[in-house]
Amino acid sequence: MKTRAAILWEANTPWSVEEITLDAPKTGEVMIKLIGSGLCHSDDHLLTGDMVMPPEVQAELGIEQFPCIGGHEGAGEIVEVGPGVTGLEVGDHVVLGFIPACGRCPSCATGHQNLCDLGAFLLAGRQVTDFTARHHSADGRDLGIMCCIGTFGEYTVCSEASVIKINKDIPLDKAALVGCGVTTGWGSATYAAEVKAGETVVVVGNGGIGMNAIQGAKMAGAEKIIAIDINEKKHELAQQFGATHTASSVQEALPMIMELTQGKMADKAIITIGVGSGEIIQDTMALIGKGGRCVHTSVAPIMEQDVKLSLFELTLFQKQLVGSIFGSANPRYDIPRLLDMYQNGTLLLDELVTKTYSLDDINVGYQDMRDGNNIRGMVMYDHAGA
Ligand SMILES: NC(=O)c1ccc[n+]([C@@H]2O[C@H](COP(=O)([O-])OP(=O)(O)OC[C@H]3O[C@@H](n4cnc5c(N)ncnc54)[C@H](O)[C@@H]3O)[C@@H](O)[C@H]2O)c1
Ligand SMILES: [Zn+2]
Ligand SMILES: [Zn+2]
Repeated sequence: MKTRAAILWEANTPWSVEEITLDAPKTGEVMIKLIGSGLCHSDDHLLTGDMVMPPEVQAELGIEQFPCIGGHEGAGEIVEVGPGVTGLEVGDHVVLGFIPACGRCPSCATGHQNLCDLGAFLLAGRQVTDFTARHHSADGRDLGIMCCIGTFGEYTVCSEASVIKINKDIPLDKAALVGCGVTTGWGSATYAAEVKAGETVVVVGNGGIGMNAIQGAKMAGAEKIIAIDINEKKHELAQQFGATHTASSVQEALPMIMELTQGKMADKAIITIGVGSGEIIQDTMALIGKGGRCVHTSVAPIMEQDVKLSLFELTLFQKQLVGSIFGSANPRYDIPRLLDMYQNGTLLLDELVTKTYSLDDINVGYQDMRDGNNIRGMVMYDHAGA
């Protein structure tokens, strides 16, 4: 079929909205009519080159990251089911998880679906079923799809491993947000940081991921939540999600946290700034006390290896520094659970979307994100007449 999608032809160029050809789903795949897609910072990492492997590495792995359809935070309705798909049928409402979960690999089998072995193909751009493409440009080139799903298009085809069925009474535009940002932020607090009742938690970077880390920490029972963002516009909103205190930098937060905790410092810190940087690690580690844990959720440039870290404090204060992907969650369990919490009124989703855009305006949406105007921007698809 013919449809439209936002393609990145190479790094440091704008998203190009074009007509594409989408093949029917093959074995183990489904076609989804998408409602819209969240504008997560991770797609911008593709555009800036932060998430692009050097050409020699791509050649060694036998992949080409461009051209690629972006987007990895979507939901929609199944419109076609390929051979061999079980448990999904036309008309089902689904969230697309940004990491597939095969259910069979060692990680899936031990309750770590966010670390599914199929995650190895997140940036490879092809279907995880047979490593070929269903998306093609007008001139016949195979197109990659971000995170094996490519939600910056009105329709997509992906493996059933990326698809989580949800109840039909959940609004699809809200459900889309749980495909990445909500689960990642909420899980960074509840699973990766293991926030416990009464703790003091710091969240550095209060965008689409950080706001969800704040509400995750609040739900887990944190007593004090210090939201830190260089953009002061985010401070009031952070309080809406559960922050008890705000600061404009990690340096500014240090004396505040020292006073708030009588010198004990925070129990947990979660880093969710837009572009991960080794520079901020030590300053954030200084905000946590003995036995404290710092979770690094931000994505840094792919070749970044330099970190500022006091090894002395790491050992003597027995601090922990851990990474986290997809909130260390199990998407098949946590996505329906988070949506239940939304329906019960305990999880905020309506408040996350600052502004919606048409697919044609996707570059405007990303500029708004870079300018700090949005918690989450979202492109919504116009299926009128489709
Ligand atoms: N680990 C994962 O599974 C995962 C999943 C999704 C996104 N991410 C990553 O999480 C990060 C955040 O994504 P997002 O969509 O929330 O981005 P965003 O652009 O919406 O928010 C980032 C926020 O960080 C703030 N910020 C930037 N530098 C700062 C600093 N030095 N100190 C304090 N605040 C600072 C910005 O003002 C902004 O409010 C990105 O790196 C993204 O790629 C990781
Ligand atoms: Zn994301
Ligand atoms: Zn798996």
